[in-house]
Amino acid sequence: MIFTLSDIEQLARIPRLTLINAISGFKSANLVGTSSASKVPNLAIFSSAVHLGSDPPLIGIVTRPVDGELKTTRHTYQNIRESGFFTLNHIHTGIIEAAHQTSAAYPDEVSEFEQVGLTPFWSKRLPNAPYVAEARIRLGLEYVEEYCIAANNTILIVGKVLELYLPDTCVDARGNVDLNLAETVAISGLDTYHQGLQLKRMEYARV
Ligand SMILES: Cc1cc2nc3c(=O)[nH]c(=O)nc-3n(C[C@H](O)[C@H](O)[C@H](O)COP(=O)(O)O)c2cc1C
Repeated sequence: MIFTLSDIEQLARIPRLTLINAISGFKSANLVGTSSASKVPNLAIFSSAVHLGSDPPLIGIVTRPVDGELKTTRHTYQNIRESGFFTLNHIHTGIIEAAHQTSAAYPDEVSEFEQVGLTPFWSKRLPNAPYVAEARIRLGLEYVEEYCIAANNTILIVGKVLELYLPDTCVDARGNVDLNLAETVAISGLDTYHQGLQLKRMEYARV
């Protein structure tokens, strides 16, 4: 099957977003934890977390500042701008349903943690953003900068990793992280969750 740009543009909204959300391949599955100025914890599933460099350790997430149809502010974006911090919490096989439910548009004063049955965990080093206690791999980040993707008004938020929580069994002295042992999942599209299957470990490629 071949889709030209004009075929894609002619698709109805839902099939188009379903198709385009799937074609970048398997994506990371994270819960983004933030807190509003009035300290209401907020949690939202994001599949756009991406490695941006390791020195300093930077990770980006892509969000819309405003919801296109509803014209309501995205809490994650607003909270990150207000508080300056956010957390990324790997989704594992045991919390898929709860994690998926965080994508529902809850009102401002409602905490997704309570709604979906997950527990906020606050670190002394990151007082303005909650972690997910049930997650096994957790990253605490500080807002660094943002870039507007002018073509569609989305925003790439750049965060610096301030702390990392990993189970001792999931990381070795060389920095290798065993995501399978942590049961971290991947996402395809907007609704399908996968568990990784390790095929091969390769040496650093040289000419
Ligand atoms: C599998 C999945 C992945 C998602 N990834 C993103 C994402 O990367 N960026 C984003 O802005 N929204 C993403 N969403 C939508 C948000 O989870 C949803 O809009 C949520 O209500 C945002 O919450 P907030 O208003 O508290 O920020 C995703 C939804 C699902 C189901």
